Amino acid sequence: MVIGCIGCGNMGGALLAGLLRSAPQGSRFCAYTRTPERLAQLEAQGVRRLQNALEVAKEADLLLLCVKPAQVAAVLREIAEALTEDKVLLSVAAGISLEVLARGSGGRCCLVRCMPDTPALVGKGVFAFAFSASCSRERAETILALFRNLGLCFEMPESQFAAFSALIGAGPAYVFAMMQALCQAGVTLGFSHESSRKMVQALVEGCAVMAEKSPEHLARLKDNVCSPHGLTIDGVNVLDRRGFSGILIDAVLAANARGLAMEKEA
Ligand SMILES: NC(=O)c1ccc[n+]([C@@H]2O[C@H](COP(=O)([O-])OP(=O)(O)OC[C@H]3O[C@@H](n4cnc5c(N)ncnc54)[C@H](OP(=O)(O)O)[C@@H]3O)[C@@H](O)[C@H]2O)c1
Repeated sequence: MVIGCIGCGNMGGALLAGLLRSAPQGSRFCAYTRTPERLAQLEAQGVRRLQNALEVAKEADLLLLCVKPAQVAAVLREIAEALTEDKVLLSVAAGISLEVLARGSGGRCCLVRCMPDTPALVGKGVFAFAFSASCSRERAETILALFRNLGLCFEMPESQFAAFSALIGAGPAYVFAMMQALCQAGVTLGFSHESSRKMVQALVEGCAVMAEKSPEHLARLKDNVCSPHGLTIDGVNVLDRRGFSGILIDAVLAANARGLAMEKEA
């Protein structure tokens, strides 16, 4: 399979780098991005730099479209002639629907809408996928198998993409905000900024692994840390009194409302 990428910035570069590491042997890679210097590192790893987007679209079996949403229409105009039935076009552009992709591409090739989160940049992504009707099940499975090497993949109807974006796409902002607050508390209690951050990072990673490995409900995992008359329950009581869970739920619902409004505006 030839995997091509148009727009190799943060997300395109990260996806290409991940697929370079994990795609089946014999896969070949090509790319075009507006600023050629951004491709230098990937070129050194075997990605062939082509002169324009159309050349990549002609060459690639799987074409990753990783430009900003506002640039999608122009790029599609440039490459539409190459997007024949045998090709797969996968777009990560936020808010760009399969219908918009079909209109811009001529609707012959298999279309994939994909929404990654930022941890995809370090190979620990969570991805949402929706496939066009022109995509066979076999092709969809091939794409999912490729991306499972880069993170956790969920297939869902496009109608759930706003919810996915509010919970998972925006998720790193909630988690980093919580981590930052914990670090600040650590510094307040006398730890250095550096050790606070290291400890909090390890805490969050450890809890994520524990949640993954344990069959117990998250509430039970929380209760297990709260000994009667201990110190944790006093901390947890403050979270409950101040509405920590409610704040997080409201944050996700607010982001979802904004996502739905943005879809209407698009
Ligand atoms: N980053 C994220 O966390 C994230 C999460 C979910 C979805 N996405 C989606 O991923 C897409 C890319 O986002 P990003 O954060 O990776 O942005 P980015 O770092 O700005 O990357 C976009 C790249 O596309 C290049 N480009 C622009 N116009 C082009 C054209 N006509 N032909 C070829 N290359 C062109 C840009 O070139 P220059 O270097 O010259 O500007 C840039 O390198 C967006 O659609 C976004 O919605 C991103």
